[in-house]
Order: sequence, then C-alpha cells, then structure tokens
Amino acid sequence: MNSKQEKINTLNERIALSKLGGGQKRIDKQHANKKLTARERVDYLLDEGSFEEIGALVTHRSTDFGMEDQIIYGDGVITGYGTINGRLIYVYAQDFTVFGGSLSETHAEKICKIMDMAVKVGAPIIGLNDSGGARIQEGVRSLGGYADIFFRNVQASGVIPQISAVMGPCAGGAVYSPAMTDFIIMVEQTSYMFVTGPNVVKTVTNEEVTSEELGGAQTHASKSGVAHKTATNDVECLEDIKKLMNYLPQNNTETPKLLDYTIQDEVKEVLSDIVPDNPNKPYDMHAVISGIIDTDSFYEVHKDFAENIIVGFARLGGRSIGVVANQPMAFAGVLDVNSSKKAARFVRFCDCFNIPLLVLVDVPGFLPGTDQEWNGIIVHGAKLLYALSEATVPRVTLITRKAYGGAYDVMNSKHIGADFNFAWPGAEIAVMGAKGASEIIFRREIVSAENPKEKLAEKEAEYASKFANPYRAAKRGFIDEVILPKNTRRKLLKAFASLENKKVIAPKRKHGNIPL
Ligand code: HXC
Repeated sequence: MNSKQEKINTLNERIALSKLGGGQKRIDKQHANKKLTARERVDYLLDEGSFEEIGALVTHRSTDFGMEDQIIYGDGVITGYGTINGRLIYVYAQDFTVFGGSLSETHAEKICKIMDMAVKVGAPIIGLNDSGGARIQEGVRSLGGYADIFFRNVQASGVIPQISAVMGPCAGGAVYSPAMTDFIIMVEQTSYMFVTGPNVVKTVTNEEVTSEELGGAQTHASKSGVAHKTATNDVECLEDIKKLMNYLPQNNTETPKLLDYTIQDEVKEVLSDIVPDNPNKPYDMHAVISGIIDTDSFYEVHKDFAENIIVGFARLGGRSIGVVANQPMAFAGVLDVNSSKKAARFVRFCDCFNIPLLVLVDVPGFLPGTDQEWNGIIVHGAKLLYALSEATVPRVTLITRKAYGGAYDVMNSKHIGADFNFAWPGAEIAVMGAKGASEIIFRREIVSAENPKEKLAEKEAEYASKFANPYRAAKRGFIDEVILPKNTRRKLLKAFASLENKKVIAPKRKHGNIPL
C-alpha cells in the first residue's frame, strides 16, 4: 500500500469512528491552544451530543488526475445541525486534512444543502472555513460550486444570521462567501484571507509581503475591516461565536430573546462625571456605554477598525440592543469614511434582525481633508445616513456632548426617523463650532473692530451661549427631553420598553438604492 492510500484509509477510519460516536472528546480549554480538527471544532461549538451530521458518506465524483483512487468520505467538509444553548443552528466545517479542505462540486453541494435547510427552517448558519480554495482537479465544477454558495449567501442575507469563522486559509474567490455573511471572526496566526496571495502580489506589483501581513487576522481587523473580530485560538473563536449568538434572533421574523427584568430606581451616579468640563477634552465613550447597559453585557464588534466609532451588542433591561457611539478618544469622534461604513453595516444588520438601536452622539462633524474627499466621504457618509433613515427598528438617540453640522443629522436625529432623542444638559447642537461660525457670520464686524481678536472672542462667547446647548433643539421638539446623566439608564429602559410594538409600514418598492 502506498503512503497516499494509507493516508486515505486512516482518514476514512477516523471519519467512520467519529460517526459512531467513538474517537471524539470534548475539548478541554487549557489544552486547546492549537488548531483543532474540523470535527473537534463542531463538537466544541455545539451543545454536547447535539450534532447530527448530514452527508457523511458523500464522496467526490472526480475522475481526473487519479482522483478516482482517492475517495474520502465526507469530501472535506462536515455538515449538519445541532444546538447552541438549546437553539437550532446549522453548521459546516471544512476539513483541511482532506484535500486541503478544497471545495469540489460535491463539497459545495453539501454546504448548499444545509444552507437551504437553514433558510427553510429559519435557523442561523455558521461556517467554519479552512480551505485551500477551489479543488484544482475539478476545474470549473468547483468554481460553479462556489458560485452556488455565493448565490445562497445572498438569498439568505437578512433572512437568517450567517456567521463565518476563518480558521485557516481562505483565498481567491473563496473569500467572497464569508464576505457576504454578517460577521467574520478570524483566528490569529493560523488564518488568512486574500483575493491574490503574496506570490501573485510580488509578480504583479513587485511588493514583498507575507501572508500574515497581507491577509492575517490583525490586518483584516484593523486595516481593511473585513474581520469583525479576532481570536487568539480556535477555542476562543468558537466561544466568541456562541456569545454573539446570544444577542441574535433565529431569523428575521423573530426578535432576540428578552431576558426577565424589572425596572427599579436605576439611578447611575457614575454617568454624572464622565464628560469633562472642557469641551475639547476627550473621554472614553465605553464608560458611558457600560454606565447605561446591563452589567458586562457589551459585545463589541469591529473594535480595532475605525476606532472613532464604537459598535456592538448589549443588553438593556434584558433586551438585546445594538449600540452605535461616537468615540471622542479617537480623532475626537469625527465621522470619516471608515467609521461611516462600519456603523452603516452594523445598523443594517440590526435592522434586518429586529434589534433596536441606541445611538450615542458626541461628534464634532465630518473629518475634513483631501484624503477623505478623494476617498469618497460623500458616498460613504451617505451610507450611514441612508442606513439609519431606512431602519424601522426602535431607535433612540442620546447626545452626550457635541452634535455639530451634518453629523447631527446623520447620527440618528429626529429628522431621519429616530423615535426618542435625549440630550444631556451640556450638549452642544449647532451648525458648527463657535469659532468657525463667528469668523464667518461676524467677519465684517470683526475685521472693522479696533481689536479684532477681542471682538472674535466676544462673538464666539455670544454664539456659544446661544447655540452650544440642547435647549434650542428641545424647544423645537428635535430633542424630546434634556435629561440628567444619572437618570439616563431609567429613561432608556422605559423608552425601549415603550417601543416594543413599533411598526412601520414602508412604501412598496423592489429595494432602495443605498449609495454603495
Ligand atoms: C486541491 C489542494 C488544494 C486545492 C491544497 N490542496 N489546496 N488540493 N485543490 N485548491 C491539497 C494539497 O495538494 C495537499 O495534498 C494538501 O491539500 C495540503 O496542502 P499543502 O500545500 O501541503 O498545505 P500547506 O503547505 O499548509 O499550504 C496550504 C495552501 C496551499 C497555502 C492552501 O495548499 C495552496 O496554496 N493551495 C492552493 C491554493 C489555491 O491557489 N487555491 C485556488 C484558489 S482560487 P496532499 O495530498 O499532498 O496532502 C479559488 C477560486 C475560487 O479558490 C473561485 C470562486 C469564485
């Protein structure tokens, strides 16, 4: 027997054993700081004993390049269903030990089958990716298989949550399946994603770059924004997916599970001292978020990308909500290309899956500069404006400090359909900052003054006292109530509870045309 045949026999033996329930062990967290096998991954992800495999005996139909002698049961992907915390989940896990996890026609058929099942029964699908891409020996049949999956990713989008873990290679066109799912979690050091690898890059652009630099977890989490999260190992990645599932409903006709909660006095003194007196001093918006939400319930996504905006899931009085918040600690919380894209995508996810939105605002405006204009801040800023305007889930806004210019409109203002708009007493809501505004509207007065500097300061103060507060907006009803920071949690709990049965009938259309 040659070594290839031996390898195939061993693989088939292993697969047969695990099908019979033998050879499987629950993973011990301490011993899991390594790449797990596909079967171990599925086993760890799902509730113990809940996995039901589908298609374990499927084999490829390829006869080229001696493939007829290399028949391995399952064809490099484990597919089936099980539960996570008792909730039905469909799952597939590519097995790198079988033809490098490469995708053949039958491998693709197996994935498509469970995607169709997941949509039919309204259950989330989780893909554990670890593959050398299209099965080279199968040519266009494998490319077709990918396209079959892509098509289903799109059909399932907004119907069931789709989550991708990238736990090994994911290269070439293969990247487009995870890319069209809702969340991507990448494992550090062992995974990478790129359309063209380092060798092609070197040939075409003469750039020298490693796989890790080009498409590793950190690169996609911080530079490209392709990855929503990274994990230090497989176990952490699978744990993260389980946590994420807690905030999501099964499908777009359901709401996330509401945990029992009774509103008490809910006064949070800690919120009173977060915003500094000096309006130019930054503070960490995470402190505001944790002062408002249920203890330790924040699940942040896209943490290392566009840090000037924070997005993530939380619980508020047991209710799953999506939080979008400007972060004054990073670039003063300005809106720019990346933060607009990041927030818009998150808003759309929440809206698809009936997750109410809390928007915390401290924004000095849009970031000026050629870099931003030439990279399309107009079109990308419009994405966030569009996504929020379109969202029909309950939407509540709190302005903690600044809400200037177009960014005031964009950040879930009353005008674009927010349900409740609150502001803290120190909020500044105006077209622009006092200095810039005074230099424009009082220009003549300032130029002709005996002491232009003094005049500018005087006008600045006049402008600030008139506009740098929330009361003008409240007078017009653009702000529903100016609230003390310490009462914020109580106000928000009541606001979201009152919006529970919100219904919006949108005008009939095929679909809108979001500025992509
Ligand atoms: C068939 C493959 C394969 C593939 C790997 N293998 N990729 N078999 N088709 N695409 C097999 C190898 O022959 C080997 O088999 C085993 O898997 C393990 O691979 P190694 O190369 O030994 O592993 P490693 O050194 O870890 O390298 C992993 C790798 C490399 C970087 C992924 O295998 C690789 O570059 N593979 C090709 C990647 C690729 O170009 N894919 C096509 C991309 S284009 P044996 O029998 O020796 O153990 C694409 C188009 C999608 O995917 C289009 C959608 C629109």
